Amino acid sequence: MVRKARIAVLVSGGGTNLQALIDAQKSGIIANGEITLVISNKEGAYALERAANAGIKTETVIKKETPDFEGRLIELLEANGTDVIVLAGFMSILSERFTSHFEKRILNVHPSLIPSFCGEGFYGLRVHQAALDYGVKVTGATVHFVNEIPDGGQIIMQKAVEIQPGDTPETLQKRVMEQAEWIILPLSVEKVCKEITEG
Ligand code: GAR
Repeated sequence: MVRKARIAVLVSGGGTNLQALIDAQKSGIIANGEITLVISNKEGAYALERAANAGIKTETVIKKETPDFEGRLIELLEANGTDVIVLAGFMSILSERFTSHFEKRILNVHPSLIPSFCGEGFYGLRVHQAALDYGVKVTGATVHFVNEIPDGGQIIMQKAVEIQPGDTPETLQKRVMEQAEWIILPLSVEKVCKEITEG
């Protein structure tokens, strides 16, 4: 394949990881892929504004208002000719119907070192609260392929981040994003795009 892999990013919130991907595309860290679609499951998510500012097509699909939520996502992703799907702070668990449709084509970024503090119920600040409650001294982020088990797919990259005295879930979240997520997510996306386009 000589063309670039077409990347769709699924978001729910602020979209700092989406921004890291947009910036990595601009700087050439992502060279074998191109973000062509951003889908949010939350109306008015700031991530949509980041996408629009970068000239990327956006869609919003609300689970409660969409009788076949995953079917609609699949329809939009296929219409976009999507090669790689990135879950970047996408706060909805996808079933086997969805994950098996795009086997080894979906990546997720999770804000801990899997298999710690992961699986159903572990998302956003809750993950960092759990790490602080446990008293671990090191946490980090993981990028992995998505299968039917929440946070259970093959690991692509991980990066460790130290916990510091006085950390709150908010300060820890910020450090994990800056020192790990925003670095390993673009690198992992490029790795998978390169494998697909060269394969
Ligand atoms: C990120 O920390 C991401 O790792 C986490 O949500 C945040 C989204 O931030 N994802 C999960 O917890 C998934 N289980 P963002 O919208 O600014 O990228």
